[in-house]
Amino acid sequence: MASNESELRRLEAAWADALAEWAVPDRFLAQVASSPFELSPSSFKPDRARLETPTLRWLADELSGLPAGGRTLLDVGSGAGGTSLMLWPVAEHITAVDQSAEMLAAVRENAAEIGVPAEAITTINSRWPAAEPPSASVVVCANVLYNVPTPVAFLRALLGAASHAVVVEVTERHPHYGVNPLWLRFNGYQRPTQPSAEAVGAMLRLLGYEPEVSRWERRGADPDDPEEVGRLARRACIPEARWSEVGAYLRDEPLAPTEVVAFKVTIA
Ligand SMILES: C[S@@+](CC[C@H](N)C(=O)[O-])C[C@H]1O[C@@H](n2cnc3c(N)ncnc32)[C@H](O)[C@@H]1O
Repeated sequence: MASNESELRRLEAAWADALAEWAVPDRFLAQVASSPFELSPSSFKPDRARLETPTLRWLADELSGLPAGGRTLLDVGSGAGGTSLMLWPVAEHITAVDQSAEMLAAVRENAAEIGVPAEAITTINSRWPAAEPPSASVVVCANVLYNVPTPVAFLRALLGAASHAVVVEVTERHPHYGVNPLWLRFNGYQRPTQPSAEAVGAMLRLLGYEPEVSRWERRGADPDDPEEVGRLARRACIPEARWSEVGAYLRDEPLAPTEVVAFKVTIA
């Protein structure tokens, strides 16, 4: 047990050091109007296509296997509800936790838009781990861990909040890893490659769980869609005046699809 704890501390320190490397040098921030890390609620809207991902299929299966009245879902780092809202009414009640009040306002708006009743949702504006963490039968945390320099406490709290199962989804590499070729081509700057999802699996195992693992790919960007090109160019700190060059480059050198990994831990 003591050696598990020291290995967890080592993995967590390596994760935090690797994340720190993703900070963008000031000289690149100075050439653009907004931070490449700015998150917009519109990027995380509920989308029917996500129902086909292993994460949502696992969540739907786990929830529907529970007795009626107990099918509760906690979505940590919910963003605008893109992971959890599509699961209503299989999830009878959804608790969305996010550190951003703007994202939670979008959860409520998106819920109203797709017909999820207001009483089926609770929103909690808090960082995770929360001082008084809510609990649920099933817990999901999707696309959050690369924002978290202390993943061990974060994962422990997720595992402690679930009575039945936890699903954690992450991209194989940092969410901005896919635009590394744009950084190199347009800014002459080599971005990092670490950390990776492998560390998340290792941490879950050291915490005493053997997760099921599922992998898939999100398709690469469409070089003919100016909105997608702009989103990628913003991530690579490329000024708007050069976005048409980015589209042309992507037509010749398409970015690789994004690899995604989900881990499912069964608690009981
Ligand atoms: C990339 S978005 C993912 C949103 C959603 N889970 C999805 O997959 O569509 C990450 C979200 O996690 C939130 N977040 C990041 N770190 C957090 C923390 N420690 N506690 C609570 N929310 C956090 C951000 O505010 C943001 O809304």
